[in-house]
Amino acid sequence: MKASISLAIASIATVLLSSVSYAAPVDSAAASGQTAVILSATDYCIFLPPKYGGDIAASEDVAVAFCTKPNLPGAPNARVLPAGFIASSHYVVNSQKGYVQITGRIDRSKYGLSENDGGGQYDLRAPVGSKMTGYNAFVQLTEPDEQIFCIRACKNKSDCPVNKSTYGCEKVLGGDYS
Ligand SMILES: *[C@@H]1O[C@H](CO)[C@@H](O)[C@H](O)[C@H]1NC(C)=O
Ligand SMILES: *[C@@H]1O[C@H](CO)[C@@H](O)[C@H](O)[C@H]1NC(C)=O
Repeated sequence: MKASISLAIASIATVLLSSVSYAAPVDSAAASGQTAVILSATDYCIFLPPKYGGDIAASEDVAVAFCTKPNLPGAPNARVLPAGFIASSHYVVNSQKGYVQITGRIDRSKYGLSENDGGGQYDLRAPVGSKMTGYNAFVQLTEPDEQIFCIRACKNKSDCPVNKSTYGCEKVLGGDYS
């Protein structure tokens, strides 16, 4: 009796293991479209959870780029932002330091984000594989509870601080949130 039970357990384990190995191609498909670009006040991308209603922090490894328009150069396979998700935005260029920044308000309901989601930070380390075309670093904070977002793309990594992820947009990047 004991022997056949452990055999049964062994075959369940085999089934589980084989389904894990088949899951890998699905994960890499989900990870595509992780390159963003900031071209102008109207043509840019931010990172969001891949699924409608996703939690910002829980999606930090799998978030993908969503852009204001389809097929922006420098953002291959990125998705298009839900209509009305960006409620306001303010574009800043610091040509002396070599960074660009967008700050503003979101309408979380347009992507089903939760009013209880305190948000989080995305940068080159998470989403894994993320890139910002034309820049060496980026930092983005998204705060569904406050309905604000901010993103900065930097030539010089020291202008994109990633060590204050819990401080929120206004303390990390400053800028206009009206
Ligand atoms: C990057 O910024 C830091 C701090 O402002 C500065 O000391 C450094 O020289 C800059 N590096 C480059 C390559 O501009
Ligand atoms: C983040 O890093 C900067 C530059 O190294 C440093 O000045 C600052 O104190 C750090 N902040 C925190 C909260 O660790």
